[in-house]
Amino acid sequence: MIRSLSLMAGAAALASLVAPAAAEEADPAAIVALQFAVSGDHKGVRASGAKGVCLRGTFTPASDAASLSKAPQFAKTDPAKAVPVTARFSMGGGNPKISDKTKATTRGFAMRMADPAGDLTFVIISAPVFSTRTPGQLLDFLKVRVAGPDGKPDAEKIKAFAAQNPETGRQAAWLNARPVPASFAGTDYWAVHAYTLTNAKGDTTTAKLKFVAADKTTLSDEELKAKPDAFYADELKERLARGPATFDLVAILAEPGDPTADVTATWPEDQRKTKTLGTLAITEIAPDATCDAATFDPVVDLPEGIAGPADDPMFAIRSPAYAVSLSRRSN
Ligand code: HEM
Repeated sequence: MIRSLSLMAGAAALASLVAPAAAEEADPAAIVALQFAVSGDHKGVRASGAKGVCLRGTFTPASDAASLSKAPQFAKTDPAKAVPVTARFSMGGGNPKISDKTKATTRGFAMRMADPAGDLTFVIISAPVFSTRTPGQLLDFLKVRVAGPDGKPDAEKIKAFAAQNPETGRQAAWLNARPVPASFAGTDYWAVHAYTLTNAKGDTTTAKLKFVAADKTTLSDEELKAKPDAFYADELKERLARGPATFDLVAILAEPGDPTADVTATWPEDQRKTKTLGTLAITEIAPDATCDAATFDPVVDLPEGIAGPADDPMFAIRSPAYAVSLSRRSN
């Protein structure tokens, strides 16, 4: 079921879907316009994740996943009846020609686990944090990155913004401290928001969700130099010809005091209890059209048993922002 399509009703109607607190802070259409502007106003592509590969796969839940969440996807433990998945790997940003070698950019992973009772959608990145804490901060983060008349953004403005908003440097610092993944399927991905899982008895668990790659693989600086700008798509084709690329879906369980409304803040993952909820297997490449007709909406397309954070200002606004991008790239 692709409910996101129903959101294609124009920017004004979409803005009204945003929770009041977020709407006061920043208009999603204004953010999306800046996302496009920062990456060169390319036509017919996403405002972020413009370069990517559409995929198919399956999700098989762990035998006790239903003890945490009553979402239908966590009940289908018979591998013969695995949940069908449509997914997409991508490079962050709105430039469809971005080099796969780019270091300080997140790799993205969008997925829809289908079920007649409600799809389960995640749109996640290869870092544990997002670049900004609020939509207003994202608007300003983007504004200082728009190119001036000389074709370049003003380095001084970017520096001043970073000094005043130090948390906005955490994602780039995290990425810069690590080698570039050798494969879209060779790195872990985080949902960054804190989710609430609810089981059939009504017990709730607060958790961050992480997709852990079975085959992590990175490139040394030397190896990176030797690569062309586009190698992920071919690598994936070769990899999938050998067999599925798999990820464990791991719930990182919150402890009292862990921030649940700030996507620039990490939890000390290695000190938290975890629970594996299942395994995602990416099996084949799908035509782009399979992924491009609708958005992967991580806010609206969630079944009962899993909910995003009501108090994280970066969560709800993603839905109208993605719909604005969809209406623009579809016209
Ligand atoms: C206020 C916050 C955010 C805004 C305004 C925003 C905006 C957007 C937009 C407009 C798109 C293009 C959607 C489309 O055309 O289908 C997009 C795609 C994407 N975003 Fe965000 N985003 C936000 C937060 C996040 C966060 C927190 C994450 C990661 C956890 C994320 C990861 C992605 C990914 C992976 C894609 C590519 C989706 C695909 O392949 O279809 N975004 N974002």
